[in-house]
Amino acid sequence: MARPEPLRIALSGDCPPFPCLLHPRHHERTTMKIGILGAGNIGSTLAERLSTAGHEVSVANSRDPKTVNPAALSTGATAVWAADVTAGADVVIVSVSLEQTPNLAPLVSQAPAAATIIDTSNYFPHRDGVVEAIENGQVESLWVQEQYQRPIVKAWNAITTQSFDDKASQPGSAERIAIPVAADQDTQRATAMALVEETGFDAFDAGTLAESWRQQPGTPAYTTDLTIDQLPAALAKADARRSARRRDLMMEIISERVEAEGLFDHDRLIALVRALF
Ligand SMILES: NC(=O)c1ccc[n+]([C@@H]2O[C@H](COP(=O)([O-])OP(=O)(O)OC[C@H]3O[C@@H](n4cnc5c(N)ncnc54)[C@H](OP(=O)(O)O)[C@@H]3O)[C@@H](O)[C@H]2O)c1
Repeated sequence: MARPEPLRIALSGDCPPFPCLLHPRHHERTTMKIGILGAGNIGSTLAERLSTAGHEVSVANSRDPKTVNPAALSTGATAVWAADVTAGADVVIVSVSLEQTPNLAPLVSQAPAAATIIDTSNYFPHRDGVVEAIENGQVESLWVQEQYQRPIVKAWNAITTQSFDDKASQPGSAERIAIPVAADQDTQRATAMALVEETGFDAFDAGTLAESWRQQPGTPAYTTDLTIDQLPAALAKADARRSARRRDLMMEIISERVEAEGLFDHDRLIALVRALF
């Protein structure tokens, strides 16, 4: 695990470091063609942020493109049919519930061989159904990679949708939240880390996919909104024997609080999850 090299993105004019909301296309770096499968909480925000960054983004849900959340398209992304997301893509981001992974495998396999595949998923058995291999200890991202039969990167999985929406900030900002990125291929890791930075968060190299259990639900790095200085210790502190139990405990407490109080305040949620560790 290592702190990333500072991004070397050449800027023109008076553009500040990303996000340059005034002149997103001034960044002198390659504009990528990015396809996003999933236009829900995370996929919509990804579409909006990565379009703002100047990328050519297409995004799909499981239905007619007309049903894609307009907010996802507000900064230039195009809604397409899922079957068209991967065509010519430099990057494919899959942001669907983990149970859908096997269904999407044929689509993902159509992506160009050089495309970087990034997966945002997490395993919640109450939602996704029981996946025996994961229950028996397989790392979630390795299971996903096995379904797709090609290398993946794990990113954006360890932040809540509320923090992702509300807590993006400029590089160098105090308390900027860091997002762990795990991958086995350096070029793909670098691509994903650059994109994470462009969505408004510090990207942290969290090592290989085999190590990515350290950012799964129920670990200290999962949805605790840590800075890049705090994240390495949290990843190191993860305990594989306890994370599934802590994930379930977290969900039980949240459900119980929601039932008792209605909508659960997000700051309390982060405080509660931090308190588990
Ligand atoms: N929510 C969070 O706080 C959060 C944070 C980090 C990571 N994650 C993980 O990221 C993933 C996405 O989470 P989310 O909250 O964004 O989910 P979500 O709001 O439920 O959205 C899921 C999206 O996937 C689409 N989808 C489902 N099956 C599909 C298919 N076969 N082809 C194309 N699109 C399909 C859905 O389309 P339809 O609307 O047409 O069904 C929907 O747009 C999950 O694995 C989740 O665990 C979630």
